[in-house]
Amino acid sequence: MAQEIVFITGASSGIGQSIGKFLAQKDYKVYGTSRRPQPKSKNGIHFLQLDITSSESIEKATRDLIAHEGKIDILINNAGVGISGPIEEIPDEETYKVFQTNYFGPVQLINRVLPHMRQADKGLIINITSIAGYMGLPFRGHYSASKGALQTVTEAYRLELRHTNIHLTTIAPGDFSTNIAAGRYHAPINENSSYKANYELSLNLMNAHVDEGSNPEQIAEKVYEVIQKKSPKVHYKVGDFLQKISPKLKGLLSDRFYERILANHYKL
Ligand SMILES: NC(=O)c1ccc[n+]([C@@H]2O[C@H](COP(=O)([O-])OP(=O)(O)OC[C@H]3O[C@@H](n4cnc5c(N)ncnc54)[C@H](OP(=O)(O)O)[C@@H]3O)[C@@H](O)[C@H]2O)c1
Repeated sequence: MAQEIVFITGASSGIGQSIGKFLAQKDYKVYGTSRRPQPKSKNGIHFLQLDITSSESIEKATRDLIAHEGKIDILINNAGVGISGPIEEIPDEETYKVFQTNYFGPVQLINRVLPHMRQADKGLIINITSIAGYMGLPFRGHYSASKGALQTVTEAYRLELRHTNIHLTTIAPGDFSTNIAAGRYHAPINENSSYKANYELSLNLMNAHVDEGSNPEQIAEKVYEVIQKKSPKVHYKVGDFLQKISPKLKGLLSDRFYERILANHYKL
């Protein structure tokens, strides 16, 4: 059987790199992307240049991969960035940038890849979202919103593609130890802001959670498990018990009670 072609955005570090390395060892042919020049091949991943915020770049990377392999069996929309700060104080251009990277870009890429999957009458698209996308977290509001949007649009795509052999799913990580904090836009802590004390505390919590986060190989194992399924579920979550239970609690508890739990956690 012909080797399956996997296309992973943001494979230069963290979760994307772990997924790429893992799948390459399982005999998939893996193409990964970075905005920066990379060796042609690293960790079994063949590199393409891609900036997910640029339509031309999305178009080019897809065209180059199709020209080379003639198909894309599995697309993993992994590239993403964080953003932190009081929503009121975040510059508009940073808000647009996070949505461009975490939502508009991935959707454009799906739309470029889908015609090739349709032609092959088969395909799997995995969107890496976040457990933070299931709730509006304080001082991470735009991150939660962008990941929540990607989760919701995945549900809509699935319904629209219900009678095809193209499957879409999301995998939402909890906290994993990667470079995400370094790439995240941090609104500066403003000495005169009424948000100062709470934002500072949340920022410390956020960074500690990532530093103490789990090994991203767990996500790679989940991706591999999902790839083997004939009909994947719409959403998967990977994280520790409390992280995975949180979206479930949101569904079970009253809105007011759940909000109080979050407020207590973030000392608000
Ligand atoms: N780590 C966590 O705890 C956690 C939790 C929940 C969800 N996630 C999600 O998991 C995904 C991977 O994050 P990570 O934690 O592995 O972070 P990471 O180590 O910072 O990796 C992010 C990757 O995204 C790529 N990227 C960033 N901006 C890009 C752009 N404009 N165009 C193309 N590629 C871009 C980076 O590639 P280059 O810089 O080389 O271009 C890098 O390979 C993200 O979607 C993130 O939101 C992470």
